[in-house]
Amino acid sequence: MSYVKLVVQRYDPERDEKPRFQEYIVPYRKGMTVLDAILYARDYLDHSIGVRFSCRMASCGSCGMKINGKPALACYTQVSELGTERIVVQPMDNFPVIKDLATDFEEFFEKHKELMPYLVREDRAEQENPKSEYLMKPEELERILQFTYCIKCGLCYSVCPTVGTDKLFPGPQAIAQAYRYVEDVRDEGGETRLNILDNPHGIWRCHFAGSCSAVCPKGVDPALGIQLLRRYVMRGKAPRKKGEGSKPFTK
Ligand code: FES
Repeated sequence: MSYVKLVVQRYDPERDEKPRFQEYIVPYRKGMTVLDAILYARDYLDHSIGVRFSCRMASCGSCGMKINGKPALACYTQVSELGTERIVVQPMDNFPVIKDLATDFEEFFEKHKELMPYLVREDRAEQENPKSEYLMKPEELERILQFTYCIKCGLCYSVCPTVGTDKLFPGPQAIAQAYRYVEDVRDEGGETRLNILDNPHGIWRCHFAGSCSAVCPKGVDPALGIQLLRRYVMRGKAPRKKGEGSKPFTK
């Protein structure tokens, strides 16, 4: 039997003055993910390890953390890719720590919510009781498709140098999702979103480091979304005004 040396950053803000590292020796099995190793340590060696997870299949976005210094999903990272000698897990940067590896997403989701990550339309009655579907052409879907894959794991937010220095900056996830809705032919909320973003702490604060796109586990390119959205902010014009969204399909 072989073993993994797992080093977990421990920190409880209510009790500890500063973070410390604790080692656990975990039996290795083929196919083991970093999350599996952490859960073994928590279940059999130390119940007090704080970690957040749910789906264990890179879908829910709960298990983001730094693994050997690099932000990644723990459930999507194989121990075999890293070697069993020493794996160090730490909470993501740019998020307050709740306990150990679990971070607080409240601010992250507040920023996401402020940019209205949903379809905004004038015809609320039709939207709530639709009589038919709102169809999209393949090329219209293509423009937003990659951005719909965001699982809100926060990895892009954790590596963004602008988020690290300006707490009012919405962050790559929120802005890329704003682009996803502004570009959606069914949406009519573009002008409102552009107004929110056109300020000194808004879309202009991104200096295109590109680290957000490099770490996304779902292949989303938030840096691209930010650049594409800037075109509309520059022109002071969203692609559609209120009442100009695509109409429900009729035969
Ligand atoms: Fe859901 Fe890792 S547990 S993404």
